[in-house]
Amino acid sequence: MKIFLDTANLKSIKKFNDMGLLDGITTNPSLLSKEGGNPKDAMQEIAKIIKGDVSLEVVATEYSEMLDEGRRLRQYGENVVVKVPMTPDGLRACKTLSSEGIPVNVTLIFSANQALLAAKSGAKYVSPFIGRLDDIGQNGMALIEEIQEIFLNYEFTTQILVASIRHPIHVVDAAKIGADVVTLPPAVLDKMLLHPLTRIGLENFLADWDKLRSGNPDMKI
Ligand code: E4P
Repeated sequence: MKIFLDTANLKSIKKFNDMGLLDGITTNPSLLSKEGGNPKDAMQEIAKIIKGDVSLEVVATEYSEMLDEGRRLRQYGENVVVKVPMTPDGLRACKTLSSEGIPVNVTLIFSANQALLAAKSGAKYVSPFIGRLDDIGQNGMALIEEIQEIFLNYEFTTQILVASIRHPIHVVDAAKIGADVVTLPPAVLDKMLLHPLTRIGLENFLADWDKLRSGNPDMKI
């Protein structure tokens, strides 16, 4: 399963990229707005830092304007994936950009039928937003299961990019289903690294080591 970071925060991107954990990045206008500054500079910088796929979203809603924006975004880097919303114009733009060799991520997917149509339009990724479904009392993870079953039935190459993840259990459940990618807010990735028994275990090991070398403080491994 690939791990993407769902952020436009350069500090977090560098931190997790230096750990070698990141296969890609997803951004959206809200995430860029949260960081402030010039969004164009931020998008170009992210595409430079990260080797894997970087999803950058169009803000146009009309087909030909989406194409213009998508083609311009792609000039930020060979790793740029153009993100378009799940609308009739978005799907049409997905088909055209994909036929030009520009990979597309269709975002704001909330049903299996939307995912099916995006896959048929040539999307490289579909992004079902599971947390937002959970928020309204629907089962986000059930949607991932449904999409996975459909894509396997027809051997679609479109990848399921599980988005709107809220906590580490979402990640485990997505991995059990076999989803291709999870995109994680930095706080969720931070939580995945931690377990209280790891911290306590390490403290004990170090305390015991200190006892061992108490007669010889200069001892090194
Ligand atoms: C995905 O590409 C989106 O940026 C993101 O996962 C949306 O998540 P949210 O529901 O937390 O805004």
